[in-house]
Amino acid sequence: MRVGIVGTGYVGLVTGAGLAEMGNQVVCVDLDETRIEQIKNGVIPFYEPGLPELVELNLREGRLNLTTDLESAVRESQVVFLAVGTPSRPDGSADLSAVYQVATSIGKFMTGPTLVATKSTVPVGTANEVKRLIEAETDHKVYVVANPEFLAQGSAVNDFLKPNRVIIGSDDDEGLALFKELYSPFLRTGNPIVTMDLASAEMTKYVSNAFLATKISFMNEMSRLCEKVGADVESVRIGISSDPRIGKQFMFPGVGYGGSCLPKDNRALLHMGDQHGAELPMVEAALKNNELQRANFMSKLTGLFPEGLEGKRIALWGLSFKPQTDDTREAPSLEIADYLVAAGATVVAYDPQSVNAPFEKHGSKFVRVNSSFEACQDADALAILTEWHEFRRPNFARLLSTLKNPWIVDGRNLYEPHRMARRGFLYLAMGRSNEDSVSVSLSQPEKKVQSVK
Ligand SMILES: NC(=O)c1ccc[n+]([C@@H]2O[C@H](COP(=O)([O-])OP(=O)(O)OC[C@H]3O[C@@H](n4cnc5c(N)ncnc54)[C@H](O)[C@@H]3O)[C@@H](O)[C@H]2O)c1
Repeated sequence: MRVGIVGTGYVGLVTGAGLAEMGNQVVCVDLDETRIEQIKNGVIPFYEPGLPELVELNLREGRLNLTTDLESAVRESQVVFLAVGTPSRPDGSADLSAVYQVATSIGKFMTGPTLVATKSTVPVGTANEVKRLIEAETDHKVYVVANPEFLAQGSAVNDFLKPNRVIIGSDDDEGLALFKELYSPFLRTGNPIVTMDLASAEMTKYVSNAFLATKISFMNEMSRLCEKVGADVESVRIGISSDPRIGKQFMFPGVGYGGSCLPKDNRALLHMGDQHGAELPMVEAALKNNELQRANFMSKLTGLFPEGLEGKRIALWGLSFKPQTDDTREAPSLEIADYLVAAGATVVAYDPQSVNAPFEKHGSKFVRVNSSFEACQDADALAILTEWHEFRRPNFARLLSTLKNPWIVDGRNLYEPHRMARRGFLYLAMGRSNEDSVSVSLSQPEKKVQSVK
C-alpha cells in the first residue's frame, strides 16, 4: 500500500520504517526541515535502538521517503497516519492543534478516497472531529480509524514489528478491512487485532497509560510506608509480583515516573473526567503520588546536607526518563537538577545518550561530562536517576575513591543496601532499610567514611 505518515518523532518514524519494512511504499512528512534532511541522510535525530538500521535499509531499498511537503505526500497515499505530538496544554488537556491542522490539510490535498488513522494519543471524540474537518474540505470519501500506539521507547522497533495487540477503532467496515490488511503481516504469530468503536479505541490508550502509572505509583506509595515501618520494598515487590494476578512489570519503586506519555496522558484523562463530570480519584492519586515520590527522593538528598546545598557538587547518573532512550521529557532529572541548582549546588551529569538534554538555562551550574566516573570526581554525593545498564555494577572501589563523600542516593534501587554499607558507602534507596547506612554520621558531612561495619 502507499502510506503517508505525518510526524517523524518516536512514533511516526518507527511506524513509517516498520510499514516500509513490510513492503509498503511509505512517505514520512514533518514540518521540521532539519529533521527531514537528517533522516534522509540516515541520521536519526533521537536515540532508539534498531531504528537507524531499519531506516537505512528501507531508504536504500526505496520503500521509505521523507519530505516536508504534506501535499505531495497526501496525494500519493491511500492511507495517512497522524503521528504528530499532542502535548499538554496549561490546563492539562491535550493540545490537538497539530492534529486538526493536519486533518484540514489532508482534506484540501486528497485526490481520491483516503483512509486516515489517528495514531497520536488523542481524547475521545478526536477521530470524529478529524473526519468532520476533512469532509469540510473535500467531496472524496474519507475513512477515519483510531489506531492508538502502544510501543515503548527503547524497544519501539520490536514493539511495532511484533505488537502484542493492535487496536483499531472504526465506525466503518470498509475502512476497517483495509486497515486490517495493512497490519496483518505484523500479526502472523496470532496476536490479536482488536476492533472496537472509535471512542473505545481512543479511551483504551488513556486507560492503558493510567493503569501503568497507577501500578508504579502504588508501589511508590508502598515504598514510602516500607521506609517508615522498617520493611524492604524490594522483598515485598518480589513477594507480591510472583502472583500472576499482580505481575512483575511496572512494579519497580523509584524516583517517580516521567516521559512524554504517562504524565501528559494522565493529565489529559483527568481533564476529560472534569469535562464529563466524572471524578477520577485514582488518576488524581497517581499524579499526586508521583510528586510525593520526587519529594521523597529530594528529601533524602538534602538530608545529607543539613548545612544546605550551597557550593555542593552533586553527581547525577542518568538524565533520560528511562534507559534505552535519550528522551528527557518530564524526566525526574529535569526537576531534580532545577531543585539542586536553585539550592546553590553544581550538578555534574552523565548520561550515555541524552546529549541534548535541555539544561542550558543553568549555565555553569550544570556540567555534562562523558563518563560516569568523571561525574563523580570530587562530588559531595551521587544521585542515580536512570537505571542504565552501565550503572548497575560499577567498580565500587573506584567509585569510593572518586567521590569526595561516599554518599549515594539511588532513585532506582540498583544495589543491595547492606552490601553497599559493607563497601563503605552511605547508601539511601527508595523504600529500603537504611539501618546500615544511618550508622554513618550525617553530622560530619565532609568527612569521608572509613569503615561502616
Ligand atoms: N513516544 C512514545 O513512546 C509514544 C507512544 C505511544 C503514543 N505516543 C503518542 O504519539 C504522538 C507522537 O509522539 P512522539 O513521541 O512521536 O512525538 P515527537 O514529539 O517525538 O514527534 C512529533 C513530530 O511531529 C512533528 N509535527 C508536529 N506538528 C506537525 C505538523 N503540523 N505537520 C507535520 N509534522 C508535525 C514534529 O516536528 C515532531 O517531529 C503523541 O500523541 C504521543 O502521545 C507516543
